[in-house]
Amino acid sequence: MKTCAVKKCLAAVLSAVMLTGTASVMSISTTGAETTGTIIYSNDFESGDVSAFTGRGGVESIQVSTQYAVSGSSCMYVTDREKNWNGPQFLLDDLLEVGVQYTVSANVRAAWYNNINLSMEYTDESGERHYTNLAAVNNQGDGWSEFDAIKFSIPEGVTKSYLYFECNDQSDLYIDDFTICTAPVYEIQQDIPSLKDVYANYFKIGAAATTDEIAPKSAKDLILKHCNSLTLGNELKPDAILDKNACLEMAASGDDTNPQVNIASARPLLNFCRDNGLSVRGHVLVWHSQTPDWFFRENYDENGAWVTKDVMLKRMENYIKNVFAAVISEYPTVDFYAWDVVNECWLDDGSYRNGGTQADNANNSGWVKVFGDNSFIESAFAYARKYAPEGCKLYYNDFNEYMPGKTQAIYDMAMDLKEKGLIDGIGLQSHLDVGFPTASAYKKALEKFVSTGLDVQITELDITTSDISEAGFEKQAQLYSDILDACVEYADSISAVVFWGTTDDKSWRSSRYPLLFNEDFTAKPAYYAIIDNMPDTPPVTSTVTEQTTEATTTTSTTEVPSVKNLIPGDVNEDGKVNGLDLALLRQAVLTNQAFVMPAAEDTNGDGNVNAADIVQLTRFLLGRDVELKSWLPAPTN
Ligand code: XIL
Repeated sequence: MKTCAVKKCLAAVLSAVMLTGTASVMSISTTGAETTGTIIYSNDFESGDVSAFTGRGGVESIQVSTQYAVSGSSCMYVTDREKNWNGPQFLLDDLLEVGVQYTVSANVRAAWYNNINLSMEYTDESGERHYTNLAAVNNQGDGWSEFDAIKFSIPEGVTKSYLYFECNDQSDLYIDDFTICTAPVYEIQQDIPSLKDVYANYFKIGAAATTDEIAPKSAKDLILKHCNSLTLGNELKPDAILDKNACLEMAASGDDTNPQVNIASARPLLNFCRDNGLSVRGHVLVWHSQTPDWFFRENYDENGAWVTKDVMLKRMENYIKNVFAAVISEYPTVDFYAWDVVNECWLDDGSYRNGGTQADNANNSGWVKVFGDNSFIESAFAYARKYAPEGCKLYYNDFNEYMPGKTQAIYDMAMDLKEKGLIDGIGLQSHLDVGFPTASAYKKALEKFVSTGLDVQITELDITTSDISEAGFEKQAQLYSDILDACVEYADSISAVVFWGTTDDKSWRSSRYPLLFNEDFTAKPAYYAIIDNMPDTPPVTSTVTEQTTEATTTTSTTEVPSVKNLIPGDVNEDGKVNGLDLALLRQAVLTNQAFVMPAAEDTNGDGNVNAADIVQLTRFLLGRDVELKSWLPAPTN
């Protein structure tokens, strides 16, 4: 089997570890050695064969050039691009499997100072084409740029999937060393406590995930281990399920007020929930964002006039009715226990948004444009109440919910809707940062929402950090711990805590490492911080608490090095125990390194080096009340 080596030299990994502390650990790229995948397709264009590539515009000339090359002496050369979107595309159908994660790498060059995009296109079951940008590089001059192992996957049920290149003018494009590999596969840590078990007596634990995110088996494993609730990251939003062609057909047949929906893009996630008994938080029915402008226009025409309030009310009712009908009929066994009916209507000062098109300003709301104010909120709840299945609770959801003006506006709105019997709960998105807000400011808002007597859910929790040193991640862990402590305190009023994503690299705020798990699916200090001190946390493994005799007998006899200079936890023997040691310990456990006891890696002194030692060292570094100890050989007599 050919392998696709992603070489990382040990020195580079170690320096990354030093720079970034705990975060880099997971970039497991990490083992310091090689992570390998299988090459699915590779072309260095030395053979002169470019037949696997076609022009997206049908006008491009695609050939081989020896003018430039990264490897060997030739590359692919694309000329006659008449539009910016013209460029070479590579068909993935019949080559790649659904449910597998892949990487694509390539060297690219264009004219000076040109952005080159690497994107993916596919057609869903309804015939709609989807375009996703995977990565972009900016040519800084007359040279090559690299797309290095960019991850992607093929969603379930799609056809005509392509990878393609385009750039921001009609410059000629050069491409070399185009390679598709399977992505490295990481296993999740099975021997750490499950969050849903730890919090079982308090609230549901959820995660948001997108179709792409659950492509690797490990992502599914992670969700199933820790969560009993899933929110679809994008796939139930209006722009994902409004079916424009069907809307236009309906309008052409004389009904301009019955928006048609298609839940094709939600199916992979909903199938996963159905097959595994995961409850779903529906997200979201009425929102200014990720809702196409044409939805608010006459005849669903992008250039049409804004519809009247009356027409929009009918569209709103039918949209809500059709969404509920679609999910109920296709997924009768899935427990949609909550739906966000309305999202993000209040500004920080408690006023409503400006009415207008998203194209002018992403903060504009088409709803406010048509209704003149936030009066559409009540109608949305009334329709949701009318069509939601029994047992499905209805929520108003918002961010910056701790800004005083906004807290008050949401509170007032919620009390009014509560009196009318239309709302069941308030969703606090909770997109936080280590620098803001403080845990006490957050808690104050939480108390205010709890005082409505409505249910409260933490719907999109993530906490970013710009400081990715060891101390930065500890600070992040502390805020996570404080927020979860506050939730436990008000657990009687809180029915779910949902994290907005799974691993850091897949987060919508990935550049600031906001989640509980690293790219390689190992748990971060934030994870340990929120299980620590929970009364229901089961022991991490039996080896944490027990010093087994078995361990003593299985390690032992030969070559016991001197115990004298060994500092438990000081893996790199620099006299200090810090995040670098933790990084090296993880690396050792992940690569199943063998040790002769006593070893600094055996931080709980049980005679084995395993995940329990990672837990022990993490807790120690977080300042928890644990002691690092060495395994000691049994006295010989
Ligand atoms: C985000 C998704 O995570 C991104 O993938 C997408 O590009 C933008 O939307 N508040 C919400 C969520 O209610 O729907 C948003 O999700 C994050 C902010």
